[in-house]
Amino acid sequence: VSGPHIPTRLAVAVDLVDVRPGQRILEIGGGRGVAAWLVCSALEGGRLIGIDRSPRAVGAATRLNQVYVDKGLAEFREAALEQLDPDELGTFDTIFAINVNVFWTRPAAHEIGLVVRLLRPGGRLLLMYSPPAGSDHTRLAARISPRLEDAGLRSTMRVEPADADVVLCFEATRS
Ligand SMILES: C[S@@+](CC[C@H](N)C(=O)[O-])C[C@H]1O[C@@H](n2cnc3c(N)ncnc32)[C@H](O)[C@@H]1O
Repeated sequence: VSGPHIPTRLAVAVDLVDVRPGQRILEIGGGRGVAAWLVCSALEGGRLIGIDRSPRAVGAATRLNQVYVDKGLAEFREAALEQLDPDELGTFDTIFAINVNVFWTRPAAHEIGLVVRLLRPGGRLLLMYSPPAGSDHTRLAARISPRLEDAGLRSTMRVEPADADVVLCFEATRS
């Protein structure tokens, strides 16, 4: 099946998502839906919900993933993270975001609290960034890790691939 052009950072990020059959996955700020497309091509019988506050992004993601939307595997909604209703959405096995800056540009306690409520116990949160070459990862870590910790999530940081910082990933599991 021919698909979209896949930037390396998105291929690396979706590898870290580690999609398994039957999972419920939430992507925050998915933009045009390329990572969602990669997730859906590996997802059997589960569900991906992609939210983005930009109507243009939601339109583009829906078009790109129309085959998966038609199968009932994917759904894209125009929504800001801070407006999500966990009672309506239910819980997810994995929640991920790629290059969404809300988690480090402001305290984001409300947003991170919502994410925790949206994770099932044992569910994984992955906040991923493609850092500028040569950037100091400890600066981002100093902002993100304590915010996750304040919400009761202990996170680990890693770079992938280990020898080329394509993706900087903060991963936390809900206890
Ligand atoms: C830099 S783009 C990244 C898009 C895509 N994840 C990627 O890596 O190519 C950030 C996206 O997050 C969305 N976004 C930013 N803050 C958001 C929020 N609070 N709630 C929902 N979407 C948000 C923007 O509309 C935009 O589409």
